[in-house]
Amino acid sequence: MKAIHQRRAVRSYTDDPVSREDIQLLVDAAVHAPSAVNCQPWAFVIIQDPATLAHFADEGKALLVKEPPSAEVFESGLPDIDRLRQMAASEDFELFHEARALIVIYATGAGGIPDCFLAAQNLMLAAWSIGLGTCPIGLARPLFNQAHVKDELKVPQDWLCALPIALGRPDGETPPTSRRPAQIVSWK
Ligand SMILES: Cc1cc2nc3c(=O)[nH]c(=O)nc-3n(C[C@H](O)[C@H](O)[C@H](O)COP(=O)(O)O)c2cc1C
Repeated sequence: MKAIHQRRAVRSYTDDPVSREDIQLLVDAAVHAPSAVNCQPWAFVIIQDPATLAHFADEGKALLVKEPPSAEVFESGLPDIDRLRQMAASEDFELFHEARALIVIYATGAGGIPDCFLAAQNLMLAAWSIGLGTCPIGLARPLFNQAHVKDELKVPQDWLCALPIALGRPDGETPPTSRRPAQIVSWK
């Protein structure tokens, strides 16, 4: 319950690198998520090289400015495409919040996206439990679904990017976010 309540979308990270052991532990937590008929339709790309992170952050930002994805606008709660384009074009906007690592979860089969989201939540709660911060980066999904990016990452073209997750040591506290009370519409 503590992890569930205290995990935050972290948007400020220290320069401390994340160890391979920690990343392996997080991926192991992810693959222990439930999946439909235990099909485990997930695969992971890990990016830690600073130059590669910067290159993808720039390319993802340029893509957002050029072709803002309307589904992502809806998801992010931003009121309109113009505002998203404006936000993405601003000098301070860094797609991965300058995190030291990025874990991209790909769905390896049609219909695998919900299972990947369960894996993502396992990963984020596990990261919290070892003092690491995460932020889901839905805005980077179009980038990781680009054919040339999949080629570069050795990802088969028919896999779908479910969710990129920024990862690093949080730089300070992230203020708590609020939640509306749960809407229980029926309880019979
Ligand atoms: C599917 C999904 C996509 C998201 N995409 C982004 C994103 O592109 N950039 C970002 O900074 N936060 C992103 N977030 C984080 C949400 O904004 C954040 O979870 C929400 O504001 C609640 O804050 P909390 O996680 O700290 O409770 C995303 C979250 C989800 C679940």
